[in-house]
Amino acid sequence: MTTADKNISIDFNRVPKHVAIIMDGNGRWAKAKGQERTCGHEQGVTSVRNVIREANALGIKYLTLYAFSTENWNRPQHEVDVLMSLIVMAMSRELPEMLENNVTMRIIGDISRLPEDARQTLDQCVAATAHCTGLNMILALSYSSRWEITEAVKAISSKVAVGELKAEDINDDIVSQHLATAEYPDPDLLIRTGGDVRVSNYLLWQIAYSELYFTPTLWPDFDGAALRKAVAEYQQRERRYGLISEQLTEQ
Ligand code: IPE
Ligand code: IPE
Ligand code: MG
Repeated sequence: MTTADKNISIDFNRVPKHVAIIMDGNGRWAKAKGQERTCGHEQGVTSVRNVIREANALGIKYLTLYAFSTENWNRPQHEVDVLMSLIVMAMSRELPEMLENNVTMRIIGDISRLPEDARQTLDQCVAATAHCTGLNMILALSYSSRWEITEAVKAISSKVAVGELKAEDINDDIVSQHLATAEYPDPDLLIRTGGDVRVSNYLLWQIAYSELYFTPTLWPDFDGAALRKAVAEYQQRERRYGLISEQLTEQ
């Protein structure tokens, strides 16, 4: 089925199963309006809500949102504090709508670095939505790919040390199974807003064959239509996985 909404055509048979987003540009959005950076983060919460709604409407199964990186801990303390309380507040405020829309909330990242009360609130949101079967909204919080891969290496080497796993049996799948994303398929589409063309320590292993989409739109201006536009462009791409075009039609 193909439908047109705001002139954007989507093929609902070929919607990406997993979309990962680097939500960047909040600070610049605020600065352009002569406001504090933190106002940009507040506005960014509205974009999160709109994008979750649209992802649900499109039938995307996994949406991984980069909310706070390991490196973001090094920002000025005031900004870190505001971001943390905003993220926690936003998640508990969105809980009723997530439940209503059958959205499961998950978290990846080193949340042991979060304040105890923040962790408790997030744990409650995760537990409250655990039974939902619709969109999986995965929040990457206090997350970085190198942290995640390092943790995986530690876990795998401990298993080798105790004889639970043989070094020669380690393969791609075993590595994937030891990442924080073990339960999720790799992203089909990675979106970065804010105009920078880099991946900033995000899902480095998992995006090996993801389609990359960079937009100058700042995160607070990114809405449901912008997500549709990214999905429509994704649908124009040919994913060859190292093969040649003719081989794909033979399969
Ligand atoms: C993204 O916006 C939000 C986080 C990184 C937490 P920024 O705060 O990085 O905004 P810019 O990139 O400085 O504009
Ligand atoms: C990436 O944005 C992290 C998040 C969106 C949470 P940054 O603003 O931290 O990335 P850099 O510093 O521009 O690479
Ligand atoms: Mg940024």
